[in-house]
Amino acid sequence: MEKKLNQDKIPAHIAIIMDGNGRWAKKQGLLRVAGHEKGTKSVREAVEYCAEVGVKNLTLFAFSTENWNRPKFEVKTLMKLLVSSLKKELPTLQKNNIRLNSVGNLDTLPEKARLELEEVIDKTTTNTHMTLTLALSYGSREEIKCMVQSISKKVKDGEIQPEEITDQLINQHLYTFDMPDVDLLIRTSGEQRISNFLLWQIAYAELYFCDVLWPDFRKKHLFDAIYNYQKRERRFGKTSEQL
Ligand code: IPE
Ligand code: IPE
Ligand code: MG
Repeated sequence: MEKKLNQDKIPAHIAIIMDGNGRWAKKQGLLRVAGHEKGTKSVREAVEYCAEVGVKNLTLFAFSTENWNRPKFEVKTLMKLLVSSLKKELPTLQKNNIRLNSVGNLDTLPEKARLELEEVIDKTTTNTHMTLTLALSYGSREEIKCMVQSISKKVKDGEIQPEEITDQLINQHLYTFDMPDVDLLIRTSGEQRISNFLLWQIAYAELYFCDVLWPDFRKKHLFDAIYNYQKRERRFGKTSEQL
C-alpha cells in the first residue's frame, strides 16, 4: 500500500537543523563551501514540499551565533550565498504565496545580507500560505537573554509586576513571538543535539534525527519525517486514555 500523509495531522510548525554540508563536501573531495552551495537545493525542496502539504510554518537554522567562529572564508561564502539565494528565490516565494521571516541577531549580519533580507521580508509581508523563517545569527540563549533583559526593564520601570510574567508574556518577548511552538524538529547528518536552537519553543516538539547529510536531503526524506511524526502519540503529560 502506498504510504500517505494524514491531512488532519500536518505539523503546524516544522523546524530543521540543516546539518552536514561540510561532511558532504569532504566526502566528494570538495571544499566545505561546495556543500553549502549544494545545500541550497535541499532548502528549495524543503520549502516547496512544506508549502505543498500545508505546513504553515517552516523554520530553518541557517547560521548560528556560534558559526561566527568558523574560518573567515567560510563565513563570507555563507553570507554571499544568503544574498544570492534571497535574490534568486524571491519570485518563487511570491508565486507560492510564502512570507519570509527571520529570527536572530540581524544587526550582526553584513549590511548587504541584512538589506537583502529586509527587502525580501518586506516584499513578501502580505503572503499568507506559509511562513518561512530563516534563523540567522541565531542563538537560543541569546534570544532568552534578550527576553529576560526586556522584561526586567519593564518590571523596573513599573510597567509590569513580576506576577504578571506568564508563558504568554515570555513568548511575546522572544524573536518567535508570532509563531506557534515547534511540533516537529528535524536534524540531518546523524548528530543528535540541539546546538542552541529554539530551546524554549521545542519544549514539547517531537524530535526526528536522520543520518542523511543536508545536501542529500530530498522531499522523500521530509515525507518520512512527517509520516513518522504522525504515527506518534503526543500526550503533553496526559495519559493515552485521556486523549
Ligand atoms: C550545516 O552544515 C550548515 C551550517 C552550519 C551553516 P555544516 O557546515 O555544519 O556541515 P558539517 O556539520 O561540518 O558537516
Ligand atoms: C548547527 O549546526 C547550526 C546550523 C545548522 C546553522 P552546527 O554544525 O554549527 O552545530 P554543531 O556545532 O556541530 O553542534
Ligand atoms: Mg555541522
